Amino acid sequence: MPRPASRGNVDPFIVMQVMSAAAEREAAGGDVLHLEVGQPSTPAPKGVLDAARAALDTDKIGYTLALGMPALRERISAHYRDWYGVDVPIERIAVTTGSSSGFTLAFLSAFEHGARVALASPGYPAYRNILKALGVEVVDLLTEAADRFQPTVARLDKAGPLDGVIVASPSNPTGTMLGEDGMTAITEWCRSNDVRMISDEIYHGINFGQRSVSALESDPNALVINSFSKYFSMTGWRIGWMVVPPDLIGPVERLASNFFISAPTLSQFAATAAFDCIEEAQENVARYARNREILLNDLPAAGLDDLAPADGAFYIYANVAKYTNDSVEFCRRILAETGIACTPGIDFDPSRGHASIRFSFAGSSDDMAEACKRLKAWL
Ligand SMILES: Cc1ncc(COP(=O)(O)O)c(C=O)c1O
Repeated sequence: MPRPASRGNVDPFIVMQVMSAAAEREAAGGDVLHLEVGQPSTPAPKGVLDAARAALDTDKIGYTLALGMPALRERISAHYRDWYGVDVPIERIAVTTGSSSGFTLAFLSAFEHGARVALASPGYPAYRNILKALGVEVVDLLTEAADRFQPTVARLDKAGPLDGVIVASPSNPTGTMLGEDGMTAITEWCRSNDVRMISDEIYHGINFGQRSVSALESDPNALVINSFSKYFSMTGWRIGWMVVPPDLIGPVERLASNFFISAPTLSQFAATAAFDCIEEAQENVARYARNREILLNDLPAAGLDDLAPADGAFYIYANVAKYTNDSVEFCRRILAETGIACTPGIDFDPSRGHASIRFSFAGSSDDMAEACKRLKAWL
């Protein structure tokens, strides 16, 4: 009897289990406040929908070049000039099937089996799981509130020999950001130690004060991964991009054409219009900002007062150590007894997440206020 390969032996996404428990509750007629899902509650911007409709009427929607439609890559290149003042030639831009396929292409092209790659814990679970499936050793940087849950040079110095570093600013699950100094310190550390720098910039644009800094501003050879999923509210369109350093563009193109042929063509047409829809995207950011204020004010009043300082994205990461040592069971009870769905920290931090939970504030402001009210009564 053939056995499954050990590569598939990665941790499940626990948020998916929360989502199915929430769906079961809804199917049984119960109400649910969705603070678990890491996606906007809004559709894609109107201009994006119009572009998709026009493409359906006029194009055969065949394959595109492996690295994506030139028109979309041009728009992405212009975005780097507009937002960050950096010049990125379109030859270095690869359009991908969401940032998720960008991770696979980045890790496959950059790291040998057995390489060592450091990342912040708590952090987005797919980095660790994809690296593990590819036989890459994950080096956890056990970050603290004092360093805003972001990697620091001091932690990297203590991490032993490394082949890569992954940063995410704003981060999931903490929403914390690396400022210009923090980002530059890490890109410089990577450059002087000959370590590959990978920057997940998927939450750029969703920030509540300081701007999001791209790794490309301090290191033109950083590998940047981004997506239309969050700021442009396009999760299900499965469309993202990478900015690839010159030595990896050939490998990424060869891998992408073999793994995926090309990213979804309809979504590429649609995404080409996204950068003309900043006003609509900013309306969503304004709602997230209101939601963040509600949670930052009302969660402490409800009894959750140890919160990560969320500078961006749409998450609040709360330390719940004074209530539980089992965040999975704690979230299960919150859902069963209050109807609030939220995510156990164990998804993001395998060693310490038993005492943390994540709230997503991508939903409506009314839901945020109601969730705090129910939590106050429950806690
Ligand atoms: C930090 C981070 N990176 C990447 C992704 C994946 O996004 P997508 O594949 O939709 O671009 C997510 C999704 O939640 C995320 O939180």
